[in-house]
Amino acid sequence: MSELWIQPTGATLAADIHGVDLSSAMNDTTFGRIAEAWAQHLVLRFSGQKIDDRILMAFSARFGELDRVPIAAASLDRADSDVVADARDWVAVISSVKKDGKAVGSLGSYELVWHTDMSYNPLPPRASLLYALEVPPGGGNTGFLNMYAAYETLPDDLKRAIDGKTCIHDSSRNSAGELRRGFQRTLDVRQTPGAVHPLVRLHPVTKRKALFLGRRPGAYIHGLPVEESEALLDAVWAHATQERFAWYQKWRAGDLVLWDNRCVMHRRDAFDESLRRLMHRTQIVGEAVLAG
Ligand code: OGA
Ligand code: MN
Repeated sequence: MSELWIQPTGATLAADIHGVDLSSAMNDTTFGRIAEAWAQHLVLRFSGQKIDDRILMAFSARFGELDRVPIAAASLDRADSDVVADARDWVAVISSVKKDGKAVGSLGSYELVWHTDMSYNPLPPRASLLYALEVPPGGGNTGFLNMYAAYETLPDDLKRAIDGKTCIHDSSRNSAGELRRGFQRTLDVRQTPGAVHPLVRLHPVTKRKALFLGRRPGAYIHGLPVEESEALLDAVWAHATQERFAWYQKWRAGDLVLWDNRCVMHRRDAFDESLRRLMHRTQIVGEAVLAG
């Protein structure tokens, strides 16, 4: 049996966890080391795994209670997915694959803009775990941003401007900008539906402050005139999305990537829509967002 070892990527976040076979039982000591590495590196990659939905769910549940899958775009029929019926509430299918012309999963092959998963909920997930079953030979890389570093390096005037402020996180669209089932288009950002969270959040485990931006479309800083909110958000987003805070995952089948949704944002490059990419994702119930 190989030993667990942790190899940081060298970017401002993310590490590889080697020597772990997620399909076999894991003791609490090993899990403790993984949890510690996660707090330190924010994103962890486990490569060369061979797991089914049961194992994905069981490993995910060690990080907390499983959260329900997000509300799908109106075009999706989840009954067509390859997830067994009793796991469908907990395992989201993220895929470009079509069966009889219909998508079997969410988010297609297009670009996903920087976002936090499901931050439009009052209790946004603590973590997401994305497992690659099939990947295209190129494209569809997933980027991650360190939002502690983004906060810590924010110029003082911007820090002061967002101090104590809250922001609306749009629940009407998914990270590809598609309208969700049951929602209508909103043009005035003051009317955006979704949860309101502090722009600076205190991480409950590390006690560090992170920018908590969610997603740019539909965002609105509570109480500000719309133009002021737009200008301030643009400035903070321009700072936070610099490549120096980013690391990109180039997927191989068998990669499981776990990210801390409280202090990381992520995005995805587009890829050729004729290529198959199939991922299964779980999400862990989070806690109320503490102001930093
Ligand atoms: C997600 C997501 C990125 C990807 O599942 O939340 O943003 O690479 N996916 O598909
Ligand atoms: Mn996402």
